[in-house]
Amino acid sequence: MNNLLIDARDLSRSYRNGREQIAVLRGLSLELQRGEAVAVIGPSGSGKSTLLNLLNGLLGPDSGQLRVFGRDSTQLDDDDWAELRRTRIATLFQDSNLIPTLTVERNIAFRAGLAGLQQHDGDALLQRLGIADTAQRYPDQLSGGQRQRAALACAFVMQPELILADEPTGSLDYDTAQRVAPLFFDAIRERALGALIVTHNPEMAQRCDRILELREGALRPWDSAVSS
Ligand SMILES: Nc1ncnc2c1ncn2[C@@H]1O[C@H](COP(=O)(O)OP(=O)(O)OP(=O)(O)O)[C@@H](O)[C@H]1O
Ligand SMILES: [Mg+2]
Repeated sequence: MNNLLIDARDLSRSYRNGREQIAVLRGLSLELQRGEAVAVIGPSGSGKSTLLNLLNGLLGPDSGQLRVFGRDSTQLDDDDWAELRRTRIATLFQDSNLIPTLTVERNIAFRAGLAGLQQHDGDALLQRLGIADTAQRYPDQLSGGQRQRAALACAFVMQPELILADEPTGSLDYDTAQRVAPLFFDAIRERALGALIVTHNPEMAQRCDRILELREGALRPWDSAVSS
C-alpha cells in the first residue's frame, strides 16, 4: 500500500484577472502520509483554498509535479478525478458543501451512495456532532455552525482516505469549535485518514502533527517565534 497520499513538487499556479496575472503558488512542495494530519495557516489571499483545489483536481497546476495516491496527475483525466472525489478524497469547502434541495439526512445518504456504500453511519455521526435534531431539515434551515457540522458528517460518511478541509471550524462559535475539534480529530485518527486542514483556530492547528505556513506561494514549517 502506498502511504504517501500526496507528493507535490514545485507546484505553481496563477490566475489571470483581466490583464493582470497573479502568481499565487510559486514552487510549492508538500508530502502527506496516510494517517498524518497537517495544518496549513496563512493570511487571507495567500492561496490556501487554491492549494486544496489543486490537490482534489478541481484546478490544475501551471507547472510542477503532483502525485495523489501514487498516481501522477498528468495521467488522471476529469473522470478519474471525479471518481477520486466521490470515493477517496473528501473536500470540506469554505462554503456550500451541502445540496440545498436535500435534507441533512438525504445529503448524507447521497454522499454515501456516491461513494458506492450500501450502508453508512450517518446517524451516529450526526449524534456525535450534536446535530441529530437537524436530520430532517434543509441546509438553509440551519445555522452556519450546524451547516458546517452537517458538512463534516457528509465528508466522513463517504469513508475517504484523504480529507482536505478549508477552515472546518471557521463558522463555529468558540464553545462549539472546542467541542467539534476533538470529534473531527477522533474521526481522522480512528480511520487513519490523511488530512490537510486549513485553519485559523490554534486549537485545531495544535492537534495536527505538523503546522505549515503558506507564505509567498510556498509552504514552510511554521515557526511561531518568527511569525509572531
Ligand atoms: N478564480 C479566481 N480568479 C482570479 N483570482 C483568484 C481566483 N481565485 C482566487 N483568486 C486570487 O488568488 C489569491 C489566492 O486566493 P485563495 O482563495 O486561494 O486564498 P486563501 O488563502 O484561501 O484566502 P482566504 O483565507 O481569504 O480564504 C487571492 O489573491 C485571490 O483573490
Ligand atoms: Mg480560502
